[in-house]
Amino acid sequence: MKVYVWTLPTRVFHALLVLFILVAFITAEWDDLLTLHAAFGSAIGVLILYRIVWGVIGPKYSRFNDLPLSLAALKSYLFSLFAPTKKYVGHNPAASFAMVGIIVVVLLLTVTGLLTYGVQENRGIFAFLHDSFFREMEFFEEIHEFLGTLLWFLIGAHVGGVLLDRLLHAKEGTLTSILDGHKNLEGESAKLTLFQKSVALIGIALSLFVLVYALSGKGNIVTAGYHQPVDYKKEKPLFVSECGACHTLYPPSLLPKHSWELMMADLGNHFGDDASLGEPAQQSILAYLLTHAAESSTSEASLKIVQSMPNQDMIAVTQTPFWKKTHKEIDHAYFESSKVKSRANCNACHSDIEQGLLEDSSIKLPNIRTLT
Ligand code: HEC
Ligand code: HEC
Repeated sequence: MKVYVWTLPTRVFHALLVLFILVAFITAEWDDLLTLHAAFGSAIGVLILYRIVWGVIGPKYSRFNDLPLSLAALKSYLFSLFAPTKKYVGHNPAASFAMVGIIVVVLLLTVTGLLTYGVQENRGIFAFLHDSFFREMEFFEEIHEFLGTLLWFLIGAHVGGVLLDRLLHAKEGTLTSILDGHKNLEGESAKLTLFQKSVALIGIALSLFVLVYALSGKGNIVTAGYHQPVDYKKEKPLFVSECGACHTLYPPSLLPKHSWELMMADLGNHFGDDASLGEPAQQSILAYLLTHAAESSTSEASLKIVQSMPNQDMIAVTQTPFWKKTHKEIDHAYFESSKVKSRANCNACHSDIEQGLLEDSSIKLPNIRTLT
């Protein structure tokens, strides 16, 4: 006897969710993949909203009110695991709790992800919160990461449960049911109405649309950034000509006021070079640096560089704990290559730094193999 349990929309949802979550987890590891991460995260958000609607209007077995979500049912299910007293055609109580847990956590993950993206990166639909909450960016990020870990546990429980079921009740075919829709059990098969088919089509298509739209490049509201580039040549020509001659033009916002004061007071002995200036030029540049120092910036780099300095007295960004931490996984060969030469040559990997930006989407490691 075969029963049709998971209709096509439920299975397509499941396949897309697995795929998108895998991509989201992988892309979360690298800053330069943040745009991809946000795009997939947004698509997951739409997918999970669709699944919630599906849980209300969907077919038998996929509907929330069909799930045996009671602690009593869970208890008796777990205690009779090896000699089941009751057969569940759809989700058993343990699976129901795992599934609802996954849906809730994924929903919270997308919301906190979008909030973090807005608050920390000044990007996406919550970018309007950046100016008010940028000091709290770490807090949003930590909640988001905590939920990510929680999701791993729930997925582990879910997959573990399915595998255990495969061992104990292999004949029922629960494992393969998510692919072909059928279980070897007795029960009423799920059927779809035209209305349900239409809702499924719209929900899934919307999720794919958001993904494609978010990946479509500049100007889309899902990943758009609102930090404005600075034209230093126009704003402070002297700064560009005096401080951009030997190396990357470091944006004033990368160091706090006190660091700039220390550096500008000792230009004669500047990292082994003599970078001394006449008194007027020195004063003029110092004033410019102080006005635009890290304290006046809302960017992630400024905030985190300053927060990571034990005292506000380091004059090399590359010496700060934050810089060391964010770059510790980069192969040394990059910094030693003829294309980069120095850690301080930010420009080689951050193409937007001389416009006062350090967007994750602009990070690109140069191809050093062809050159060395
Ligand atoms: C004569 C060349 C020269 C001039 C002019 C010069 N610098 Fe430098 N600067 C250096 C060298 C060399 C280093 C060390 C770079 C390295 O570690 O690869 C350096 C390092 C720095 C660093 C630290 C980079 C890091 O490691 O994080 C900052 C910040 C900096 N300079 C700012 C300035 C500013 C501001 C001015 C203008 C007032 C300026 N520099 C002018 C030669 C120069
Ligand atoms: C050899 C290439 C390279 C050089 C040189 C380099 N970076 Fe980076 N930087 C990267 C990469 C790659 C990442 C992303 C690391 C990751 O995946 O987490 C990064 C990350 C960062 C971040 C964190 C971005 C974020 O939003 O979390 C900041 C800030 C940053 N770099 C600033 C600098 C500054 C300032 C300099 C120069 C003093 C510099 N980098 C030099 C490659 C480089």
